[in-house]
Amino acid sequence: MKHFDNLTVLNHPLISHKIAMLRSVDTKTKDFREVVEEVTMLLTYEAFKDMPTHEVEVTTPLVKCKQQMVAENSVAIIPILRAGLGMVSGVHMLFPTAKVGHIGMYRNEETLEPQEYYCKLPDGIENMRAIVLDPMLATGGSAAAAIDLLKRKGCKDIRQMSIIAAPEGIEKLAGAHKDVKIFVAVLDEKLNENGYILPGLGDAGDRLFGTK
Ligand code: PRP
Ligand code: URA
Repeated sequence: MKHFDNLTVLNHPLISHKIAMLRSVDTKTKDFREVVEEVTMLLTYEAFKDMPTHEVEVTTPLVKCKQQMVAENSVAIIPILRAGLGMVSGVHMLFPTAKVGHIGMYRNEETLEPQEYYCKLPDGIENMRAIVLDPMLATGGSAAAAIDLLKRKGCKDIRQMSIIAAPEGIEKLAGAHKDVKIFVAVLDEKLNENGYILPGLGDAGDRLFGTK
């Protein structure tokens, strides 16, 4: 695959371990949900490495000192329904006061084109750092449509976080939105003829919510 400056793939033994758990058909809903949350927290740590800080004075039990802090409430978490919901708690672990906006998208099973069915974003989204969540970046259509929508609403600082991506999805998204930093835990081999990622983990929404 072509190199993209706006793509970061986490390469870490702990990520690899957790991805193996997510892929396995033997991993049941409760464990699947918990591992999605953990991987998301690790992705968030990486995705906000460049976040600006401001200085505060803190009193320790011994002295006063200066320390850098981040503006937690400048972050807006934007899960793409449904499967993105499973990642929200992982971001909240690091940004507990972040607001959440929801974008509903489903893929047309034949054309694989995303259909938007819901959108509710926090007031002031245009001045927030938006982090779009979807565990699976397959054709990239859903993420690209969600990011188009956020840009139409005036949002300027947008990141995308996915657990598993296909090269086809990265090429579409990274090419169409060069200003959006993309963070994925793992880059898989390819899509199958039904638009599923191989080796992948199956249908993320069904595995998170136990619907099949
Ligand atoms: C899945 C997944 C992504 C999308 C990825 O959602 O959760 O949103 O497909 O595919 P793409 O990159 O080709 O657009 P799905 O449409 O199955 O809806 P669901 O989350 O409600 O199950
Ligand atoms: N959506 C999923 O949930 N899984 C895939 O492999 C592709 C799209």
